[in-house]
Amino acid sequence: MSDLLARHRAVMPDWLTLYYNEPIEIVGGKGCRVVDASGKSYLDFFAGILTNMIGYDVPEVREAVERQLATGVVHTSTVYLLRGQIELAEKIARLSGIEDAKVFFTNSGTEANEAALLLATYARRSDQVLAMRQSYHGRSFGTAGVTGNRSWRNNSLSPLNVHFLHGTDRHLPQFRGMSDAEYIAACVEDLRHVLATAAGGDVAALIAEPVQGVGGFTMAPDGLFAAYKEVLDAEGILFVSDEVQTGWGRTGSAFFGIRNHGVTPDMMTFAKGLGNGFAVGGVVARGDLMDAPHATGLSTFGGNPVSMAAANATLDYVLDHDLQANAARTGALIIDGLREAAPRLPIVGDVRGKGLMFAVELIDPATGAPSPELAAAFMEESRKAGLLVGKGGLHGNVLRMAPPLTLTTEEAAEGLGIVVAALETVNAQVAP
Ligand SMILES: Cc1ncc(COP(=O)(O)O)c(C=O)c1O
Repeated sequence: MSDLLARHRAVMPDWLTLYYNEPIEIVGGKGCRVVDASGKSYLDFFAGILTNMIGYDVPEVREAVERQLATGVVHTSTVYLLRGQIELAEKIARLSGIEDAKVFFTNSGTEANEAALLLATYARRSDQVLAMRQSYHGRSFGTAGVTGNRSWRNNSLSPLNVHFLHGTDRHLPQFRGMSDAEYIAACVEDLRHVLATAAGGDVAALIAEPVQGVGGFTMAPDGLFAAYKEVLDAEGILFVSDEVQTGWGRTGSAFFGIRNHGVTPDMMTFAKGLGNGFAVGGVVARGDLMDAPHATGLSTFGGNPVSMAAANATLDYVLDHDLQANAARTGALIIDGLREAAPRLPIVGDVRGKGLMFAVELIDPATGAPSPELAAAFMEESRKAGLLVGKGGLHGNVLRMAPPLTLTTEEAAEGLGIVVAALETVNAQVAP
């Protein structure tokens, strides 16, 4: 064991998992590549869990942060005017498509979702919330309460009363073989049934990820959330889209993931990629919902001048370079390539994705059961070949990939080649 790993184990929590048999320390980065402490270079298809959204060492972001540092002010607090917050809020409000939108900045996705849940429960005077099975929304009491993934919850303690919905689980036997339209109809019937039976009185909101991140990039068929929203609207139930992973054009086909369903939600939450590594999260909501709480509120570090400088520069970069279109183009190249390879690889149970957010599910070819062991074997192979990817899914058997949105066509082809070669190697070990 390396000295640094031994020191990590001594003082960091056991549940803070590390990837790889020999965990790596990343010490440098440029563009879509990083270098570890041994000097080995990797193409990065996980981008710090979708957070280094436009890659490493981006001059526009670095210079914006350096300009802020040079003022001598890294914090003032929200009791003074914050130009960077106002500018960023104006951009996000405009891009959101939400009516009279207002923005509140936090430091993380967890806090962003807490803020959204506060607004929804306050507006509706209800502690009942709907969430999706296999979801992940954060690690606080409220957000863990709406998380529908056992491997990310230690207990059922929750300040909210939560009912979990179908919609991202068409692999279940009762849904197998259904068309999109049939599955959506079945899910909508179930939602109506939950509201008619399990819910006691008014429900505050539905919170959902358009593509489930930790859940292994599982997603509802396009149109499901529009169908859900019809039912929700009839009862005044609010809709919160958790865009922590899907925002800013990553899905290629829409700037916010929920737009793939033709839906404008009442609120969206965001974090991860917006600051390209600097801590920024937030919620953009209908003005009346945002303004409603009567108690004073603030986040000390939320929307601090340094994060705002980074986030403004990152968002401008995404828009100026039309990275949504790049995500569509390079993502399609990779997803098509993976789909082409899948039929000759019995360990591949599923290939799915949208834009630069794609996943390969690994199964035991003999039984069809989810195989976290094969996913672990793939991780080692791809690391050796110089590619970083992520892992996820309910059973830890899904390879999750989400490169920076600046990925070039050549890098897409290179990464695809490594993924397919590593799949072939692992496949040959179990299904020769
Ligand atoms: C969809 C989603 N929501 C919320 C969160 C929580 O964000 P954070 O880790 O910044 O608190 C995450 C983190 O992975 C996420 O993927």
